[in-house]
Amino acid sequence: MFEINGHTKQLAIIGWPVDHSFSPKMHNFISERMGNNYVYTALPVEPQNVKAAIEGVRALNIAGLNVTAPHKFEVMKYIDEIAPQAQKYGSVNTIVNRNGHLTGYNTDADGFYLSLERNGITAENKDILIIGAGGATKPLAVLLSEKNAKSITILNRTREKAQALADYVKDVNGFEIATEMKLSKYDIVINTTSAGMAPQLDKYPTDMDKLGFIGEGVCVVDMIYNPAETLFLRFARERGAKTLNGLGMLIGQGIVAYELFTDTKLSDDMFDVIASEVFGA
Ligand code: ATR
Repeated sequence: MFEINGHTKQLAIIGWPVDHSFSPKMHNFISERMGNNYVYTALPVEPQNVKAAIEGVRALNIAGLNVTAPHKFEVMKYIDEIAPQAQKYGSVNTIVNRNGHLTGYNTDADGFYLSLERNGITAENKDILIIGAGGATKPLAVLLSEKNAKSITILNRTREKAQALADYVKDVNGFEIATEMKLSKYDIVINTTSAGMAPQLDKYPTDMDKLGFIGEGVCVVDMIYNPAETLFLRFARERGAKTLNGLGMLIGQGIVAYELFTDTKLSDDMFDVIASEVFGA
């Protein structure tokens, strides 16, 4: 561990609960690697204490925060500025304290996209199928609508939620998202639901009969990283699709957040270094 001294700057993640977070491990690893004098801890903040926690950030001169569930919306009320892209994404997962001025960002979707790019995949000219319309889906749908996708379809168990999200993206970016499958094949399929993760380990995110096109040439992404291979990803792998789990997104959002906290650019190989040295992947 690098030396913690009077100059050490404090970073942290707030959430409720937050003890399962991998962010402290990842950020402290990067700081140590880079020789940056920061320390990053996990701070459990009860929902009724979010406002006080943000006041505490100012009072204690904490350099930056990551924000996880359920506080990604609530924190927006108490910070000074929300970056335009985070405003579009509708939530904040990163707060940077610049001389007492708190700016909110959302690095989730950018992290997701960084992970795709690291694996040689882009959205450009692709037919993309997103399964799910929960909190994790909105930033992703907004971002993909800005990446020259040929088409985006959102499929959700509760169709109205998919429609509400499609309406939202149309509103902010003018991009038309479909809420039913109209094509026989999609290039990229993304699971954003919690089906496949405990306690739903034995669940698929949708009726898999509809996804018979999955096979070679299709890229299938699951936002879930625990387990490393959900039933959905296994289905895709066994049919010859390229598969990616949510670990890349986790690493990607951390890298983008770290760069914002420290106003630096990390080297391109940091993604793979974190994957292998922090996550053993
Ligand atoms: P959030 O807190 O991110 O908004 P959520 O409300 O739990 O998360 O929703 C996560 C997503 O997973 C939703 O799209 C949800 O579908 P519904 O909108 O129909 O609730 C989806 N989801 C969760 N479990 C599922 C399952 N077993 N099958 C299909 N979709 C599921």
